[in-house]
Amino acid sequence: MIRSPLMTVMTDAVMKASRSLKRDFGEVENLQVSRKGPGDFVSAADRKAEKILREALEKARPDYGFVMEESGIVEGKDPSHRWHIDPLDGTTNFLHGLPHFALSVGLERDGQIVAGVIYDPIKDELFIAERGKGAFLNNRRIRVAARSDMAEAVIACGLPHIGKGDHGLFLRESSVVMGYAGGMRRWGAAALDLAYVACGRLDAYWERGLNSWDVSAGILMIREAGGFISDADGGSNPLVTGSVACGNEVLHRELLKLLKKGKG
Ligand code: IPD
Ligand code: CA
Ligand code: CA
Repeated sequence: MIRSPLMTVMTDAVMKASRSLKRDFGEVENLQVSRKGPGDFVSAADRKAEKILREALEKARPDYGFVMEESGIVEGKDPSHRWHIDPLDGTTNFLHGLPHFALSVGLERDGQIVAGVIYDPIKDELFIAERGKGAFLNNRRIRVAARSDMAEAVIACGLPHIGKGDHGLFLRESSVVMGYAGGMRRWGAAALDLAYVACGRLDAYWERGLNSWDVSAGILMIREAGGFISDADGGSNPLVTGSVACGNEVLHRELLKLLKKGKG
């Protein structure tokens, strides 16, 4: 598979930053860990990886802007392009030695995500997508699962943590979904939840209270893998509303119906 110059820039940056994360994984006692809010942690590992990503992307595309989880928004000279960066998606997993986390980078052009990279450094799994060119896992084309029976489907969700989100709403929605789904999972890294739906490991996924850096690459990944994605209320711009619901066409529609029932 021949990578475009843009995809080469993105994957090179992500691979470089991932080496820093890999070195830091399991070294929590040597990392400065702080809390951004209740249940919301950040460590020197997140910051180092973000700095590497920013420097590499800035070098290759000096005019593009940034929306970064740890360093915030930086406007670029080119107002039509900006990178959405999550240097470590799954920080809580990372800090607990749970080997399930990823880096996620999406490129927005005039409000649309046109390229996305999600990389799991522990499993060495690289998910990439470019608009109109398909989605790939380690150079092999991926598609969402074909399963259409909710009773056979495995559905992932995101749990709101202490101090965040509407816990009551989550309980209502998940108890409705639970009554129909074959199985449910909570993995703790939104970018990988989206990537796993894109490659058919998971049949559907929903979560509320996310940010553009969590979902930018994954939104494109799902669409390029033939899947459907909206926000959790069916709205068409999950990048902005920060909630997601996705799956193949049938399960996406079914999931939205169940979420609506749960919301009441
Ligand atoms: C978190 C993870 C988690 C999701 C949270 C996110 P972070 O990202 O994606 O799965 O439930 O809402 O904030 O903080 O580890 O980058
Ligand atoms: Ca995240
Ligand atoms: Ca993060």
